[in-house]
Amino acid sequence: MDIANFEEMKRYVGFGADDARALKGLLPAVTPRMDDIVDEFYKVAARHPAAIATFTGGAEQIARQREALRKWVATLFTGEYGAEYFDSRCRIGRAHVRVGLAQHYMITATEVIRAGLVDAIRRADVPDADSKIQSLHKLLALELGVMLESYKASYSKRVQEREREAVERKLTRAEHLAGIGQLAASLAHEIKNPLAGISGAIQIIREGLGADHPHSSVLAEVMGQISRLDAVVKDLLVYARPSDPRFESCNVDVTVRRILTVLREEPTVQGVPIDYVNTDTMPKIQADEAKIEQLVMNLVLNAAQACVGGGAVTVTTAFDDDKVSLAVRDSGHGLDDTIRARAFEPFFTSKAKGTGLGLSICQSIVEAHKGSITLESEVGRGTRAVVDLPRRQSASS
Ligand code: HEM
Ligand SMILES: Nc1ncnc2c1ncn2[C@@H]1O[C@H](COP(=O)(O)OP(=O)(O)OP(=O)(O)O)[C@@H](O)[C@H]1O
Ligand SMILES: [Mg+2]
Repeated sequence: MDIANFEEMKRYVGFGADDARALKGLLPAVTPRMDDIVDEFYKVAARHPAAIATFTGGAEQIARQREALRKWVATLFTGEYGAEYFDSRCRIGRAHVRVGLAQHYMITATEVIRAGLVDAIRRADVPDADSKIQSLHKLLALELGVMLESYKASYSKRVQEREREAVERKLTRAEHLAGIGQLAASLAHEIKNPLAGISGAIQIIREGLGADHPHSSVLAEVMGQISRLDAVVKDLLVYARPSDPRFESCNVDVTVRRILTVLREEPTVQGVPIDYVNTDTMPKIQADEAKIEQLVMNLVLNAAQACVGGGAVTVTTAFDDDKVSLAVRDSGHGLDDTIRARAFEPFFTSKAKGTGLGLSICQSIVEAHKGSITLESEVGRGTRAVVDLPRRQSASS
């Protein structure tokens, strides 16, 4: 936005020399009420936590903004609504983007100030008050227009930066995946076959020993460890070579029920209650059922593992016009922001026996379905993983 736009706006609201003259005489009427107007501005702002939270600089910053606001009010009436005026108004928009103030507060705050100014003018008994107030309304419309426009300009610059950052993050992730994928595939391949051999050999020894032999429990433990390794290798392979999803008509509700039946028998989960809250009218979606199973399984396992020291898991499914949602909530130990920031990274784990692939596989699955996954948590209170899957896959994929 430039000064030409400002002139155009002035013509639009019919703001001219008469208005400038009318406003010039109003400052003496407003000055005695200046403190009240500024106080009211903060009183209203204080009732809105998201607005007042922009004052991260505490009392000092509030004092600075109070002063800026008084000056702003005063300069409404000093005339010369030209280039200098326009520049000073553009600066305000940019200052608010800098502090991250939501744009709609500009409009509401202007209304608060407008009410204060009109009230001050009426009380002061100025001659011809009505037409002067009309001039003020025009000026406030211009003020708002300029503030919001310049706000938007620098806001969109910031949004563009954010978007570029997101794309860069995605690229890094993709490169990371490609590198890890190759390594994982060859490693998994090298491990899988010997592992099958070891497992077969142990079975034979075990059968030869008989169930009551003192070493047979040791061998059972060895078998347990082997299946763990096998699961890790399978995970790796899934991660390294994620097969394209095979979309079929799938009822997420049915999938969740089936998985929960299996999981409740899982030794690591036993003792952790798992509730399922659902609607029985769940619509079918186009999805890869095997992948959805794996998604649910990984999320529920994470939730249950977080509850080992006490807690419970609730799985919820729901839907609306656009999407089917799955939420896995637990009242376990939770995770802090540092862990949350890394939880979706492949191989990131805080568990002694974790591979750290669970959530990154979940993310790949969700991406393949063009959905979204988020993790919210409060340390000591629990965690909620939410997956949204679109009800219709877009034609382009
Ligand atoms: C009509 C509405 C508003 C006007 C006219 C206004 C005016 C101003 C002005 C003149 C500045 C100084 C800009 C500069 O650095 O040059 C400023 C900064 C600021 N404003 Fe506003 N403001 C408005 C609404 C709000 C609201 C609703 C909030 C939040 C409750 C807010 C919070 C801030 C903050 C945090 C700063 C930065 C202060 C600093 O660090 O220097 N403003 N505003
Ligand atoms: N529900 C949860 N509660 C607390 N922490 C969680 C939860 N879900 C995930 N996390 C954290 O995120 C990390 C990564 O999870 P992810 O599922 O990717 O790997 P993992 O569970 O450690 O290992 P794997 O799933 O491969 O066995 C976990 O180690 C844990 O720190
Ligand atoms: Mg996991």
